[in-house]
Amino acid sequence: MQDRIRIRSLSEHVGAEVVLCGWVRQRRSSGAKLHFLQVSDGTAGVQVVVKKGNVPDEQLEAARYVPFESTVVVRGTVKEDARQVGGVEVSATEFEVMSAAAEDFPIGRKEHGVGFLMDNRHLWLRSSRPRAAMRIRAEVIRACRDYLDEGGFTCVDAPIFNSSAAEGTATLFPVGYFDQTIYLSQTGQLHMEAAAQALGDVYCFGPTFRAEKSKTRRHLTEFWMLEPEMAFADLDEDMDVMEGMIGRVVERVLERCGPELDVLERDRAILERCLPPYPRISYTEALERLEGTDASIPWGEDFGAPQEDAVSAMFEKPVLVHRFPTAIKAFYMKPDPEQPEVVLGCDMIAPEGYGEIIGGGERSADLAYLERKIEEEGLPKEPYEWYLDLRRYGANPTAGFGMGLERVVAWMGDLGHVREAAPFARTMARTSP
Ligand code: 4AD
Ligand code: MG
Repeated sequence: MQDRIRIRSLSEHVGAEVVLCGWVRQRRSSGAKLHFLQVSDGTAGVQVVVKKGNVPDEQLEAARYVPFESTVVVRGTVKEDARQVGGVEVSATEFEVMSAAAEDFPIGRKEHGVGFLMDNRHLWLRSSRPRAAMRIRAEVIRACRDYLDEGGFTCVDAPIFNSSAAEGTATLFPVGYFDQTIYLSQTGQLHMEAAAQALGDVYCFGPTFRAEKSKTRRHLTEFWMLEPEMAFADLDEDMDVMEGMIGRVVERVLERCGPELDVLERDRAILERCLPPYPRISYTEALERLEGTDASIPWGEDFGAPQEDAVSAMFEKPVLVHRFPTAIKAFYMKPDPEQPEVVLGCDMIAPEGYGEIIGGGERSADLAYLERKIEEEGLPKEPYEWYLDLRRYGANPTAGFGMGLERVVAWMGDLGHVREAAPFARTMARTSP
């Protein structure tokens, strides 16, 4: 199919005869002699008109009865037609069914339950809503990479197989690895700290895994995380990069994903309000603001969904909450020298109930402190020796963060649930298709 034209670019071929391939998504007939087929090749859709006299009679019959989702090859003339999406239609001179689909394509135009749709995700993906979500996902990835690449960051990827935990042992996925048990990566951060000592500003972007027994609309067991790490950066600089990157994402989605936002019926005005600057408040201030509300918690307790939602509802933008209690955060976080009961960490909370989209902060450069924390948390020391080497040989302040891709995409498209932001979501209850 070397000379096939992608449907997206048909409007550049008005008046010409072209060959296109695609799947029949809709069909309607005006009597036995005139058939209108909506054909899509993934890049776009176009109306193909199959008319008696223009094609051999057996092809006319084939067009009349072709089942939905059949694969077809069409030769025809591109005609301008302002009423059509894309501004063109194709008048067929040859119509060939490459592969006739079974008649019982499970996804129809009637309402299906989400469970059914997720079971048929491999087919559901063809529908307009998942396609719009995947295009937004691709744009979010591009925007983040552009932001970091233009900022001089080097992309250095992190391993998936690991012998230690970074984000607590409770959410590790063990894997049989020859005669050992190892774990799937929860984060690339520790390796990015090593890379930052070699290259300055770095990031990794890849799949991460959490055995989270949470059946919420924010939790996946496999998700993609983008993790910048900057040598010699402090918390303020870290928050600037979080804000700059998410600002770029919002801007790009508004600029380049108009048709997708329309498909998803996303209210753009809400996104337009989400351009930087973003409010920055401490955990302690946040708790003060929550006092007297249903979401009020005692100092020292971690945020859950009610706290995140209540804090984000106070602003119409993403909010940066910093300086969480040391006791509830990961071992590597640097205590605030002015108040060691809190760490120089920061979470970014998205509006509209999408929750924590970023977690990060400054790392402790203090070897003795880290050794003590590893012991206090009951972690085996040996697997962390390499990480401690980073403090033995040229310890430096370093800061970074991890952005959960699916949460950001779910928020951008107002998808309601992170499972719709992944092409093939993995949750506690789902590892197929
Ligand atoms: O806050 P987390 O656990 O931070 C870290 O892993 C740091 N080591 C990152 C770093 O500093 N380099 O996770 C970071 C983000 C969260 O804010 C959230 O957006 C996302 O990853 N995330 C999840 N997304 C979907 N499903 C889950 N189960 C997630 N767990 C975390
Ligand atoms: Mg977190």
